[in-house]
Amino acid sequence: MLSTVRPDDRRRSTTIVTIVAVPADAYLARRLRPFATTVFATMSELATATGSVNLGQGFPDTDGPDELCEIAVAAIREGRNQYPPGNGIPELRHAVAGHQHAWYGIELDPESEVLVTVGATEAIAATLLALCEPGDEVVMFEPTYDSYAACAAMAGAVPRLVRLHPPDWTFDPDELAAAAASPRAKLVLLNSPHNPTGKVFSSDELGQVAAVCTARDLLAVTDEVYEHLVFEGSHVPLATLPGMRDRTLTISSGGKTFSFTGWKVGWVSAAAPLVAAVRAVKQFLTYTSPAPFQLAIAHGLGLPPETLRGFAAALAAKRDLLCDGLALLGFEVYRPDATYFATTEIGPVAPGLSGSDFCLALPGRCGVVAIPSAVFYDPADPGAGRTLVRWAFCKRDAVLRDALRRLASWSP
Ligand SMILES: Cc1ncc(COP(=O)(O)O)c(C=O)c1O
Repeated sequence: MLSTVRPDDRRRSTTIVTIVAVPADAYLARRLRPFATTVFATMSELATATGSVNLGQGFPDTDGPDELCEIAVAAIREGRNQYPPGNGIPELRHAVAGHQHAWYGIELDPESEVLVTVGATEAIAATLLALCEPGDEVVMFEPTYDSYAACAAMAGAVPRLVRLHPPDWTFDPDELAAAAASPRAKLVLLNSPHNPTGKVFSSDELGQVAAVCTARDLLAVTDEVYEHLVFEGSHVPLATLPGMRDRTLTISSGGKTFSFTGWKVGWVSAAAPLVAAVRAVKQFLTYTSPAPFQLAIAHGLGLPPETLRGFAAALAAKRDLLCDGLALLGFEVYRPDATYFATTEIGPVAPGLSGSDFCLALPGRCGVVAIPSAVFYDPADPGAGRTLVRWAFCKRDAVLRDALRRLASWSP
């Protein structure tokens, strides 16, 4: 992909920045070609090249608690620097089991029912590789987090999409039932709280997911990385619903909860035979995950509940700052109940423009980067999510205010 932008149009300079990504198609296996470039890399490069405020990729611009950093540093100094056990250090496996019990009443055996991974990203990849035969269908809700279709493709599996509809991102239960009834359907992959929409699936909706899984004897994989970043209501793991404990693999990560996305400590918890299957794959992907960060995240999971709730409260204030500001600028805002992200309909502000064109123009014209939501939809349906744009609000207040100030200079 090659895109050219004028970074300094705002400052009346004529500098042109050209971003060239080497095409991967020549060597990349055919089934992975649709995933050769990610919009996040392109947009982050654009942000750097243009000096833009980056509300594209979902990473916080401040670090999490110092006490967790101190634990990681001390662990390095104390020599915890060689391969830790392949399934994760005992401290973290016990902390995950303790966390699931304390927060949700889920009982787990830390020896056989918890596996530590390199972020939720590896957990998702290893799980789909472990569970899917080529041609199996993975039922997932669209828009989808971008790694799902790519990981399904790595496994030779096929996404079977169920559409979420704004403003509340609801789905048609008949569409879910039809997807689950396909003879090749293997599992339902649920992401709640949901990226990119910020939706928290209601108990009715979780009940519908559980009902199709039990009726069709499907497995469920749930990506719950935003479990502690819920602003309205509370997080309910799918595994707690009747009939779901032994058919659900629950994935989470310390990155989002503790604002350490670069540490890449994630985990899967499930019944022992399911964890054993995922472990069989994980051992040949990365074998193990960095020990010092595992130790720090183990400590984080044991922090008092009010500390974790404080993270969500701080983020809710940022959600309000950005969403109120975008609404004042004329965007139609779908205010999220959780996560780092808000979605807007850009029609009122940029009539006739697609989200992609808007997001490509934005860095040069206003000095702000956002993500066109179309990338979270099936590319075979070019109309899907066409005028939606996703904004990350996990940034300092001053940065969010600066972004809003810059956006005020947009004119159609
Ligand atoms: C829904 C979802 N799942 C998984 C991940 C990846 O998590 P990790 O950084 O722990 O690999 C992200 C990161 O943005 C995400 O939004």
